[in-house]
Amino acid sequence: MTIAIYPGSFDPIHNGHIEIARRASLLFDKLIWAAYDRPLKSILFNEEERLEFMRQAARDLPKVEVCSYHGLTVLFARQVGAKAIVRGLRATHDFEIEYQMALINKQQAPEIDTVCLMTGTQYAFLSSSILKEVALANGDISEMVPPYVASKLKVRIAQLGEDRGDKVKLVSLQE
Ligand SMILES: Nc1ncnc2c1ncn2[C@@H]1O[C@H](COP(=O)(O)OP(=O)(O)OP(=O)(O)O)[C@@H](O)[C@H]1O
Ligand SMILES: [Mg+2]
Repeated sequence: MTIAIYPGSFDPIHNGHIEIARRASLLFDKLIWAAYDRPLKSILFNEEERLEFMRQAARDLPKVEVCSYHGLTVLFARQVGAKAIVRGLRATHDFEIEYQMALINKQQAPEIDTVCLMTGTQYAFLSSSILKEVALANGDISEMVPPYVASKLKVRIAQLGEDRGDKVKLVSLQE
């Protein structure tokens, strides 16, 4: 059985992430869609909330399993017996970062390869940070996320009250 992991912070998931999870699941026997438990950036949704969004999105993706992990991504990949780490590529900016990460990961775990899937053009601009900024400014996010994410995002932003600008800006500055 060929297993791959699809790691990220997914704070929260958006349609670009779901598209990559769906396409990657067609390439492997099992895809483990995994959220970093504590990303090195300010997050809006805790681990369980992020996982719940991913579980809902994975309902109609039979080969996708959702979980969180702690520590080095390659070590997690090795633990679960994965042969590949799946990443989504947007514009050229992603390439440089992913290339560097892939080389470091390869050095740490030579038996595991990074597989990058190009995003669909309709999602080329989309990131969780941008999504949060648009939501914060009361923009229309209905094309970017499933309805269950959109409604929770609105509630969370309303809960942030006065601090909300700082919180969301922090997220986008830290990439
Ligand atoms: N629009 C998109 N299309 C395809 N892949 C994407 C898209 N957005 C993110 N990804 C990929 O999903 C994985 C997880 O990324 P991550 O959790 O950082 O999401 P993000 O949208 O980039 O959020 P943030 O703005 O917080 O960095 C990465 O491989 C990333 O390149
Ligand atoms: Mg990112």
